[in-house]
Amino acid sequence: MKVYFIGAGPGDPKLITVKGQEIIAQADVIIYAGSLVNPEVLNHRKPEAIVYNSAAMTLPEVLAVMEEAVANNQTVARVHTGDPSIYGAIKEQMDALETKNIPYEIIPGVSSFLAAAASLKSEYTLPGISQTVILTRLEGRTPVPEKEKLAGLATHQASMCIFLSSGMIKEVVAQLLTAYPPATPVAVVYKASWPEELIIRGTLATIEEEVKKQGVNKTALILVGSFLDSEYELSRLYDPSFSHEYRRASS
Ligand SMILES: C[S@@+](CC[C@H](N)C(=O)[O-])C[C@H]1O[C@@H](n2cnc3c(N)ncnc32)[C@H](O)[C@@H]1O
Repeated sequence: MKVYFIGAGPGDPKLITVKGQEIIAQADVIIYAGSLVNPEVLNHRKPEAIVYNSAAMTLPEVLAVMEEAVANNQTVARVHTGDPSIYGAIKEQMDALETKNIPYEIIPGVSSFLAAAASLKSEYTLPGISQTVILTRLEGRTPVPEKEKLAGLATHQASMCIFLSSGMIKEVVAQLLTAYPPATPVAVVYKASWPEELIIRGTLATIEEEVKKQGVNKTALILVGSFLDSEYELSRLYDPSFSHEYRRASS
């Protein structure tokens, strides 16, 4: 018996993986991050499964539930939003399980930055525009290393996905404007893939006012870069004059 860390996906209960859903269906104990995970992903659980909402629990409490369940030969589903490797705080749980010799496995999920791109019908890696995606956040109560300050990252002009920061939009914009031009396109996606999803589009010059007007201050991503709105080059992969491993150029 073991602990499964499961990425629940961004919100739409159909965006969990088949594997993740199967494990939830078999789990004896479920601990889910209730502040962000859509409880509908738990709909197919066993009727007798015990469900905990970790929003109101401490790390030692979460670990105690896991330890007791595994000692009783039970399967634990630890359900995180999006993919657990992104701001999921799973490392501290995994390390504690290692020291207790409790086996665990991770089932990845669809991160919200991927759901947001889908909602925007956008591609982060447009040829001639950007081939790099930066996932980051503004420092809040959790500090950010000096070399990763938003103003410094902005100098790369890469496609940027800013998590956990919509409540600090004024500061985000101020830092980005130190490197990006004011006309740089920005999209804020609130609750991507949920029924109440909201997309706010603008530029670095306009987005702060619009986000405040719409009252968005949490559960949103700030996406920045020319990938949102610009001329780009066609991909080499599908270029008729370009040969590669699987296709010869047409003459
Ligand atoms: C603690 S982080 C968890 C991220 C998650 N592990 C992931 O892969 O998406 C929470 C932040 O993720 C972003 N987020 C999570 N779900 C979202 C969604 N459905 N739409 C937009 N942003 C979301 C927001 O920036 C939120 O403040």
